[in-house]
Amino acid sequence: MERLSEEAKENKMAGRLLDWYDRERRILPWREDPSPYHVWLSEIMLQQTRVEAVKRYYTRFLDRLPDLRSLAEAEEDTCLKLWEGLGYYSRVRNLHRAALCVMEDYGGRLPERASELKKLPGIGDYTAAAIASIAFGEKICALDGNLMRVFARMTAEKRSIKDPAVISAASTYYMERIPEGRPGDFNQALMDLGATVCLPSAMPKCGLCPWQDQCLARRDHEETLYPNIPAKKPRTVTEMTVFVIRKGRDLVIRKRPPGGLLGGLYELPNAPGQMTSEEAVGYWKERGLLPLRIRDLGKARHIFTHREWHMTGYEILTDDVQEIPGGDLLTVSLLQIDKDYSVPSAFSAYMARARGETGPET
Ligand code: ADE
Ligand code: SF4
Repeated sequence: MERLSEEAKENKMAGRLLDWYDRERRILPWREDPSPYHVWLSEIMLQQTRVEAVKRYYTRFLDRLPDLRSLAEAEEDTCLKLWEGLGYYSRVRNLHRAALCVMEDYGGRLPERASELKKLPGIGDYTAAAIASIAFGEKICALDGNLMRVFARMTAEKRSIKDPAVISAASTYYMERIPEGRPGDFNQALMDLGATVCLPSAMPKCGLCPWQDQCLARRDHEETLYPNIPAKKPRTVTEMTVFVIRKGRDLVIRKRPPGGLLGGLYELPNAPGQMTSEEAVGYWKERGLLPLRIRDLGKARHIFTHREWHMTGYEILTDDVQEIPGGDLLTVSLLQIDKDYSVPSAFSAYMARARGETGPET
């Protein structure tokens, strides 16, 4: 009897959550037509990027590569260009590789089970569960930061949400509540709850929460104590000098080595350390390029997950780029760059200067 009433209560929790979702869910492009390819693409884009930022990339990507086959047949540079500005570019390289894999090994159809999906590049536990539940109705929970926060508050879990025992407890908690019929909506409802009601900030909007009556943190007025997130390691700081080298109307860029940070993308030439303008002139003279004029473009910063770039920039006018030995520099018009070369946003402050737009923040 005890067990039955527990279950009845739990089903009520799913019911309340789904009723809330049916009323309040966010209208998002990938939810309107949740084909496996659409769900997959959206989940990869959403891995480290906010919903609002993803929307227009998602639409543009599908305009250009509307199905799995077109993705598999595309050049990697095309995929990178479509990803430009989203960051974390290994995501799109893996997406492309996985599409080739699906064509080869699965006859062009994405596997349905989370356990199979996880074998593809770029698909980990969370993404596999999200795709399997949303696109194929598998009863499995997609534990992300939102679900961990809601869990920690609901159960007043004081331990770190990175603790494997806590992750496992969260998984059990949700597996006991996820409904047979709508596992994908259950997961997405929790994502929306975390994004719009059970906010990460100090003040979640508990008055709007479909689970407020069961929430231990709310009962104790201790919402802000949860979740316990362990302190992050400080980021590694790299000092560097970035060069906007102009030759007539063209700009000099180069391809970064494959693999590693921003591997395979195009960058403005740069060198370690923050140089003075005299040092910058000397640096290029040593490399056989004669600066006709140099202009200080000021400082800029870019923050990655685990590192920060602290940059100084110079604009250099020249007319002899072709003679630079080494041959890894490309001289390209801005129009061509916009069309064909993916330059990561780490350089956007100086790319804006190259375009004659606003300067980097100082
Ligand atoms: N974040 C990750 N996946 C999502 C989804 N399907 N809907 C909303 N936010 C998400
Ligand atoms: Fe989060 Fe408040 Fe809902 Fe608890 S009641 S889950 S703290 S929004």
